[in-house]
Amino acid sequence: MNQRLVALAIALCALTTASEAKVKIGVIGPFSGPFASQGKNFKAGIDAYIALNGNKAGGEEIEVIYRDLPQADPAQAKTRAQELVVKEGVQYLAGFYFTPDALAVVPLLEQANVPMVVMNAGTSMIVTRSPLVVRTSFTMWQTSTPMAKVARDKGVSKVVTIVSDYSPGVDAETAFKTAFTGLGGEVIDSIRMPLSTTDYSAIMQRVRRSGADAIFAFLPSGPTTLGFVKAYNENDLAKSGIKFLSPGDLTQESDLPALGDAALGIQTTFHYSVSHQSQENRKFVDAANKAIGNPQDLSFPAVGAFDGMRVIYKMIEATGGKQDAQKAVEAVKGMSWESPRGPVSIDPTSRHITQNIYLREVSKASDGTYINKEIATFEKQGDPGLAAAK
Ligand code: PHB
Repeated sequence: MNQRLVALAIALCALTTASEAKVKIGVIGPFSGPFASQGKNFKAGIDAYIALNGNKAGGEEIEVIYRDLPQADPAQAKTRAQELVVKEGVQYLAGFYFTPDALAVVPLLEQANVPMVVMNAGTSMIVTRSPLVVRTSFTMWQTSTPMAKVARDKGVSKVVTIVSDYSPGVDAETAFKTAFTGLGGEVIDSIRMPLSTTDYSAIMQRVRRSGADAIFAFLPSGPTTLGFVKAYNENDLAKSGIKFLSPGDLTQESDLPALGDAALGIQTTFHYSVSHQSQENRKFVDAANKAIGNPQDLSFPAVGAFDGMRVIYKMIEATGGKQDAQKAVEAVKGMSWESPRGPVSIDPTSRHITQNIYLREVSKASDGTYINKEIATFEKQGDPGLAAAK
C-alpha cells in the first residue's frame, strides 16, 4: 500500500470511530399519518434545543435517530425500540406520543441499560413501571385536576365526562371526577369512546338531553380533538348553555385556526401555551418556529421534547457519554430549571415533572392570531395521579 492509501485508510478508520463514538438518542413518535403534526413538534423541539445549545453534551457529540410510529401501536413500538437499541446502538430512548407505546417499551429498558425520556404520553402509571423512566411532559391528572376547581368557581354542578377509551382517557375522567365530586359537584354520565371515533354527533345529542351544565372532555391531541371541538360547536352545545371543560389537549394552538371564532372563550387547563410570556419562551418559540417552518404548526409536544433534550444532555454529561442508565437517571433527580413553560423540576421520587398548570382562554392576539391566553396559575403542581397509579 502506498503512503497516501495508508493515510486514507487511517483517516477513514478515524472517521468511523468518530461517528461510532457519538452518543445516539432514539426518538419514537408519529412522524407520518394523521398525527404527523404532533411528531413534527417533537422534532421541532429537539431541533430547537440543539440550535440553542449545540450538538454536544458534556463534550460528547450527539446524534438523534427518528423512528416513525403513525398511531398508537404497542407491538410496533416494541419493534422500533428494539431496532433502535440493537441495530442503531442508541443509549437513550425518547419521544412516545401515545401511552400504550411507552408502556410496551418499558420492559426493554433494564435489559438494554437504556433510560426512557417520555416527551408526551400522559398516563400517570408509566413512571411507576420502571426506575429508568423520566417524564418531561405532563399527566392527565396534573392537567385535569385544576379544571374541577375552575368549574366549581363558575357555578357548574352537573357534568358529563367524555373521554377516549384508553388509559389517559380513563385517567382524565377519574382525575376530574375525583376533584369535582370532592368539591361538591356531580358527574351525571361518563362516556368512553373508542379511539377510532370520528362522528361525535350522537354523543353531543346525549349530552343535550342529559341536563348537564357542562361537559368535561379528553381526547389525544390531533385530528380527534379538532373534530370533537367542532362537533361541540356545530351541535349547538355552547348555544344551549352547556359549558366546555377540558385540559389543553383540546385547544392546541395548531388547531385554533381551523376552529376559528367558534372556539373563542373556551377555557382549558394545561402546562404550556405557545403565547406564554417569558424571555425563555420567546427564545424557544423563535428557534422552534425556525425548525417547524410554519409557526401555526407549533404546539405543546415541542416543549416536552425541548425539555426532554435538556434532561438527556444532563444524563450524557453525568455519565461522560458512557452507557449507564441508572447513573444517568440518578443525575436528573431533583434537577430544576426555567423551561419555556415556566419553572419546572424533576421530582426525585416519581421522576415526573413538577410544573405550573395554567388556566387559559382561547383569545385573539392583537395580530389576529388565535392564542391560549394564560389567565390564572396553579403553581408547582406535582402529579396527583401517582397515588392512584400504585
Ligand atoms: C397519551 O396517549 O398519553 C396522550 C396522547 C395525546 C395527548 C395526551 C396524552 O394529547
